Amino acid sequence: SVDEVVNVTVVLKDGSKQQIKGKVGDNLLYLAHRYEIPMEGACEASLACTTCHVYVNTVHTLPEADEKEEDLLDMAPFLKENSRLGCQIILSKELEGLEVELPKATRNFYVDGHTPKPH
Ligand code: FES
Repeated sequence: SVDEVVNVTVVLKDGSKQQIKGKVGDNLLYLAHRYEIPMEGACEASLACTTCHVYVNTVHTLPEADEKEEDLLDMAPFLKENSRLGCQIILSKELEGLEVELPKATRNFYVDGHTPKPH
């Protein structure tokens, strides 16, 4: 239903903004992919990479990053105060109007022996 729509703005690497519409419960990474936004997701949302790094530009309150997310973010290039992993953002009504920004670059690496699937 219409109530379930969550509008999100994504600031692309060139600074342009793209409006996308998700639904409550959508994973931001996969939603971005449906719109062909180049948010990387090397480990397919399994919390084993930092390629889905985004900045949360709005003051929305997201659930706190857990320890694993924090540890990964520590390794992300161009880390900022408002950095989060895009694949850990699940849309809710409260996130209506969320704006996230793609960092200038991401870096992939392997952690915990986890091998990201090729894509
Ligand atoms: Fe790897 Fe988000 S896609 S942690």
